[in-house]
Amino acid sequence: MENKGIFITFEGVDGCGKTTQINKLNEYLKEKNYNTVVTLEPGGSEIGKNLRQILLHHKGFVANKAELFLYLADRAQHTEEIVLKNVRDGKIVLCDRSIDSTVAYQGYARGYDIDKINLLNDIATGGYKPDLTLLFDVDTDISNLRVGKTKDRLEKEGIEFQNRVKNGYLELAKKFPERIKVIDANKSIDEVFSQVKKIIDEIL
Ligand code: TMP
Repeated sequence: MENKGIFITFEGVDGCGKTTQINKLNEYLKEKNYNTVVTLEPGGSEIGKNLRQILLHHKGFVANKAELFLYLADRAQHTEEIVLKNVRDGKIVLCDRSIDSTVAYQGYARGYDIDKINLLNDIATGGYKPDLTLLFDVDTDISNLRVGKTKDRLEKEGIEFQNRVKNGYLELAKKFPERIKVIDANKSIDEVFSQVKKIIDEIL
């Protein structure tokens, strides 16, 4: 399939520190003259920016199934418009969240059937999967402090919800040990980054 570049995703509970690590990794790879693209789900495409606004900041009622399909719509657009295009062009695509977020949040945390989510994810991506996923595993007491007081719609779900997300991710890492690498994200930014660098240096 389209496999000239590399598709790397970054996953974890809210406040796990993955966005900081993506930016550090991007700088590191650019210094080594790799061609990179940093993107995100939801919100990496033009359509996705509108969907992100609804998903994270809509004030009224959002049905769980509507939430699920909005994330999937974002993914369908983003995969075709941004991810596959850049991977075909030989770039390293660094993506803040993707398929595993839907399994962890809408599946393990909201309780929607995981097999059905896998099927829907496959429809959204055409079956295309990340080459590598870095899972930033953090104690939710710590991530909750990092998120701070201004919380978006999902962050407002509370610590029990985040714990279900965290455990869901760990289940996923057990199921797909080749693709999903777990990083101890309780440590300092530099200590976390040295774990990231070690994994990336091994695959490049
Ligand atoms: P973030 O971009 O700041 O991490 O916020 C995205 C939020 O959306 C985060 O709370 C996780 C949530 N999310 C889902 O619930 N399902 C998904 O499929 C994705 C991509 C994100």
